[in-house]
Amino acid sequence: MMGDTAIRIVEVGPRDGLQNEKALVPTAVKVELIERLAAAGLPAVEAGAFVSPKWVPQMADTAEVLARLRRRPETAHPVLVPNEKGLARALDSGVAEIAVFGAASESFSQRNINCSIAESLERFRPVCEGALAAGLRVRGYVSCVLGCPYEGAVEAGKVAEVSAALMEMGCYEISLGDTIGVGTAGKARSLIRRVGEAVPRARLAVHFHDTYGQALANILACLEEGVATVDSSVAGLGGCPYAKGASGNLATEDLLYLLDGLGLETGVDFEAVVAAGRFISDHLGRAPVSKVSQALAGKAA
Ligand code: HMG
Ligand code: MG
Repeated sequence: MMGDTAIRIVEVGPRDGLQNEKALVPTAVKVELIERLAAAGLPAVEAGAFVSPKWVPQMADTAEVLARLRRRPETAHPVLVPNEKGLARALDSGVAEIAVFGAASESFSQRNINCSIAESLERFRPVCEGALAAGLRVRGYVSCVLGCPYEGAVEAGKVAEVSAALMEMGCYEISLGDTIGVGTAGKARSLIRRVGEAVPRARLAVHFHDTYGQALANILACLEEGVATVDSSVAGLGGCPYAKGASGNLATEDLLYLLDGLGLETGVDFEAVVAAGRFISDHLGRAPVSKVSQALAGKAA
């Protein structure tokens, strides 16, 4: 159970969120968002992705974002890397952490990174080796862990197999992605139990998109199963460009409210995250997709 465990939040909004915005967000706005989130005490704030700019133009300025970012020693800034070309770009930018991203569904793997699951794992091996040899930390993502936009149901055994393969390549943590937010608390619990047979639970993170409004319940179920790292996205930004209709991750503001209510420590300044969520939402011209932020705004009005 949860006990007195501190919960580590990985903020994915500047990457998972902004990769899915139609309008390109100026580099300066991205930098300010990331710096605000880091200043709020979030231990990890994803800074972008070294993917093909033809596939995801929103992340084309990641090197520029990193060059301008005032980096703090206490904040990790993982960047997504799909292949050796991406690793070379990440090394040029002097990052300390990358994330490779695979999937538990063949069709999603094809649409997202243009190769099969097996080919992706072959591709990730030299990426992990190169990154580890250069002293970087490598995080592993597995997408579609509770359902695929093209195939429907996904076997928990397949999630366990891909997770174990990434772990074996040297990933320090595996983030289980419910890319299209179809999971429910019962299924999330069963998934942790099954994947937990292949990967220690202390090495698992959960990454819930909130498309069906189930993310908070799913996270609670996973915390009860001993998971202590949760990905979330400020102001509920996001989605995945290769998963039509997928909405953002659970809002970081809402996650913090849940964790505070459970008496779990995060070391994160709640007010500063709410302010960062308003900053980026104002820029995008809409209200934050966070019930907590909306409730606080209503109370203040
Ligand atoms: P491909 O077309 O098969 O790649 O794409 P390729 O190796 O044949 O190269 C084609 C062109 O792309 C070449 O350029 C390469 O140089 C270039 P050209 O010769 O035509 O001018 N290229 C690159 N350029 C810059 N950086 C690179 C790179 N690689 C190739 N790293 C590829 C394969 C993987 C590159 C492509 O499919 C891709 O970039 N996919 C990324 C898709 C993506 O970013 N999806 C969103 C992130 S995943 C996600 O959101 C899920 C997650 O949040 C968890 C969850 O919710 O489940 C993590
Ligand atoms: Mg995601």
